[in-house]
Amino acid sequence: MYRSLLLGLAGNSAAEALALRYGMRLGASRFVAGTTLGEALAAVKALNGKGIAVTLDHLGEGIRHLDEADGYMGAYLSLLQAMNREAVNGNVSLKPTQMGLALDPVSALDRIRAIVREAELHSLFVRLDMENSPYTTATIELVRQLHREGFSRVGTVIQAYLYRSAVDVKRLTVERINLRLVKGAYKESSSIAFAKRDDVDSNFKRLIKIRLDSGVYTGIATHDETIIDWTRSYAHRRSIPRSAYEFQMLYGIRTPLQESLAREGYTVRCYVPYGERWYPYFVRRLAERPANAAFVLRNMGRR
Ligand code: FDA
Repeated sequence: MYRSLLLGLAGNSAAEALALRYGMRLGASRFVAGTTLGEALAAVKALNGKGIAVTLDHLGEGIRHLDEADGYMGAYLSLLQAMNREAVNGNVSLKPTQMGLALDPVSALDRIRAIVREAELHSLFVRLDMENSPYTTATIELVRQLHREGFSRVGTVIQAYLYRSAVDVKRLTVERINLRLVKGAYKESSSIAFAKRDDVDSNFKRLIKIRLDSGVYTGIATHDETIIDWTRSYAHRRSIPRSAYEFQMLYGIRTPLQESLAREGYTVRCYVPYGERWYPYFVRRLAERPANAAFVLRNMGRR
C-alpha cells in the first residue's frame, strides 16, 4: 500500500513541482550527489579514493519533447568527456525514455548510439537502466541492436520481479551481453510480476546463478545482505572468479557495506545520480523503505 502510493507519486508532475520548491532540503541530498556535474564529480572522487567504482546517472526521465532528449544527449557527451579528463573509475547509466524512447524510438536509438560511440572512444561503458514494463522489450532490443552493429560497451538491466526475466537473461547471456540484475523498482501488475518479496528473492538468485555459471560479466545490484552473502558463497563454492562479477549499490545507501566489500577486494560500484530532475528517482528510494518517509518529514520541518 505504502509502496504503491509512493510509486504513484513518482510520476505526478504537481507533486514534483511542490517537491522542487523544498529543494534538496527535503532530504534528497542523502540519495542524490548534487544538481551539477561539478558536485557529482566531487562525490565520485571521494568514492574512487576509497576503492569504489561508480556509475554516473544524469537524472531525467519521462520527457515530453524531443528537444529535451537532445539536451540530455549533450549532457551525457559532456559527462563522458569529463570522466575521461578526470580519469574517473566508472561508467554511465541512462534511462531510455530520457533519450526519447517513448516519443520516437528511432531517434532514441540514434541518441544512444552517439553516446555509446563517445564512450567507446574513451574505453567507457554505457548501461541502459530498465524502466517500467512498457519499455522492457524496447530497451532490450536497443541494446541487442547496438551489439549487432558492433558496439560492445553497452548493456542493460534485468528486474527479478518480472516473470519473463529468466528467459531474457538466458537469451542475453548467449549473446554475451553485460547485465545488471536488480529486484525491480516500479509498480507492476501481478499479471506480469511477482508480488511477494520471497518470490522476487528466489527469482533473483535463479538469475544470479544463470549469470555466474555462464561467466558473462554481471553486476549484482542490491543492498540485501542475504542475497550478497548467498552470492559470495555460491561464487566461492563454484570457484567463480571475482573478476566475473561486481556488487552495485546506490549512493547514500549501505555505505559502510560498500566500503567493507571494497576493502575485501570485491569490485563495488556505486550508482551516483545527479541533476535537476531528482524527484522521481528520490520518490522511488522513499518507496523502497517506509522509514525513509519519516526522514523526509523531519527534513520538511527544518528551517
Ligand atoms: P531490499 O529492498 O530488500 O533492501 C534490502 C535492504 O537494503 C533494506 O532492508 C534496507 O536496509 C536497505 N535499503 C534498500 N533500499 C533502501 C532505500 N531506498 N533506503 C534505505 N535503505 C534501503 N531498479 C530498476 O527497476 N531498474 C534499474 O535500472 C535499477 N537500477 C539499479 C541500480 C543499482 C546500482 C541498484 C542498487 C538498484 C537499482 N534498481 C533498479 C533498484 C532495485 O530494483 C531495488 O528497487 C532497490 O535496489 C532496493 O532493493 P534491494 O535489492 O536493495 O533489496
